[in-house]
Amino acid sequence: MDWSRIDRYAKSLIKEAGHRIRISFYQHIDIETKADANDLVTNIDREIEQFFISHIKRDFPGHSILGEEGFGDEVNSLKGVVWMLDPIDGTMNFIHQKRNFAISLGIYSDGIGMLGYIYDVMRDEFYNAFRGEGAYLNDERIPALRKANLEEAVIGVNASWVAPNRYVDHEKMAELIHTCRGTRSFGSAAIEIAYVATGRVDAYISMRLAPWDIAGGMIIASEVGAVASNLEGKPANLLGQDTFIIANPALHGRILHDFIRLKDRT
Ligand code: IPD
Ligand code: CA
Ligand code: CA
Ligand code: CA
Repeated sequence: MDWSRIDRYAKSLIKEAGHRIRISFYQHIDIETKADANDLVTNIDREIEQFFISHIKRDFPGHSILGEEGFGDEVNSLKGVVWMLDPIDGTMNFIHQKRNFAISLGIYSDGIGMLGYIYDVMRDEFYNAFRGEGAYLNDERIPALRKANLEEAVIGVNASWVAPNRYVDHEKMAELIHTCRGTRSFGSAAIEIAYVATGRVDAYISMRLAPWDIAGGMIIASEVGAVASNLEGKPANLLGQDTFIIANPALHGRILHDFIRLKDRT
């Protein structure tokens, strides 16, 4: 497999998709809801996913594609080459803020992350990684993470998980946010994972993410030493929705062990 060719190809598709998203602000955007009133999708999410899928299917007919908006394949296994795409991660930000959203793409070969991309479209920040060759932000190498200390850490977490919820003991989550230096919430899982990779935040925790939210970011962040898993400490789930943490290597174990108490949801 010529991974360098796939890398060049994916980069140019993502740049072109970013351009299409930027010019979409000059046209009418249709907003619809999916699972509930706050689960939003637009015609642009769908058009961008279709743009990727039509090209990838034409040029790499043997590859599978898992896309959030459902235009790709039904992917039940990680066998072969699988592209995992979120055409717009942070749709609520796209609609409300016209910024703070990203294109996220991870390309896996038999379950191994080979190429990862996150494009923060409005900041023009392009993060990418090629397995074993380091991670880059706008072509500059991102340095390996230095050990962080929880008391001086900034943690990416959505306020919902510190309020009563059905996933975790929220009082232990409150203890975590009182122990660390501060918290941030950016509203795009992909951007939060990119920020863990660059040390802008030291950990990111979520109770409910899908494979396309994490696929690209995990490849990038693992190149600089970040550690990812679900909140039971098992490998992050690339075939279904699950809990998720990605953190500086010095914090991952301590956060899970001292502060995460999952509720029994069986
Ligand atoms: C969402 C964003 C958000 C996260 C949600 C995701 P979408 O993705 O990443 O930050 O909290 O769980 O579903 O729907 O905007 O692509
Ligand atoms: Ca969505
Ligand atoms: Ca998403
Ligand atoms: Ca999305």
